[in-house]
Amino acid sequence: MARISPITEHEFTKIRDLLVSVCGIDLKPDQDYLVETRLTELAVEVGAASFSDLHRSIVGDPELLPRVVDLMTTNETLWFRDDSFWHTLEHLHLPELIGKIDQGQKVRVWSAASSTGQEAYSLIMLLNELLQKSGKLNYFDSIEIIGTDISRYAVYLAQQGRYDAFTISRGLSPQRRDQNFVRQGSYYEIIEDHKKKVRFQTFNLMDHFTPLGKFDLVFCRNVAIYFSKSFKEELFGKIAQVLRPDGSMILGATESLFGLNHRFESYTFGNGVYYKVKE
Ligand SMILES: C[S@@+](CC[C@H](N)C(=O)[O-])C[C@H]1O[C@@H](n2cnc3c(N)ncnc32)[C@H](O)[C@@H]1O
Repeated sequence: MARISPITEHEFTKIRDLLVSVCGIDLKPDQDYLVETRLTELAVEVGAASFSDLHRSIVGDPELLPRVVDLMTTNETLWFRDDSFWHTLEHLHLPELIGKIDQGQKVRVWSAASSTGQEAYSLIMLLNELLQKSGKLNYFDSIEIIGTDISRYAVYLAQQGRYDAFTISRGLSPQRRDQNFVRQGSYYEIIEDHKKKVRFQTFNLMDHFTPLGKFDLVFCRNVAIYFSKSFKEELFGKIAQVLRPDGSMILGATESLFGLNHRFESYTFGNGVYYKVKE
């Protein structure tokens, strides 16, 4: 088996700088092990004898970059992640959205780091339950849901909507699993009717948001933790611009805007926190 020499401080800095510039991911100084564990196989595949060689290959071959991004992003996610978030959605945000549709409006929701799709599909399952209860399933025609992620592989998996037995079990009750998925051998695939209610696409949060349009709800959960302070400020500034005047942004349960320059006001609902742009 081909070998690659251990990463040096200088090599780590070069790869770290590259990641910051292409996807905003800001590795900590002691995270050289992440580069080693996640990129060694690729380095061997491209015939690199060192991480300097690998860096040269990545810079010289634009096709390699998305693979590096796939490998260096952390796609950890699960169904109905963080109870407080889903409680707030069920009892506050979704009834508000339904109220808007009652008044003839169309509403839009963005899962801004959708990973392999669990966040967006959990939303569809919950909405489906709420709308079914109130006999308003046709309201789905007035709801646009998009899920975006920088990782091409994560987006591909989200579009497939197919999960193995371990992945499906993480956060999903057997009842919801049986109601919303079709079993295929050891895999479970989200029902076609749900799949067509969300559009997954690759999107880099470093890019301009204007082409995405305006949103009533933006989920930006468990992604900004990987970014530098300056990029977080830029990111939340851009989200503020794409939120409709009464729209809300929701972060991960352990995240906050503390210590950042921003335009948001925070609100609590039960144990959940959400943000609206200050008037
Ligand atoms: C830990 S997952 C969070 C998934 C989901 N929001 C949740 O809370 O369960 C973080 C996701 O952010 C994505 N990501 C990282 N940097 C990004 C960027 N610059 N633009 C878009 N997505 C990015 C990663 O690919 C990864 O899938």
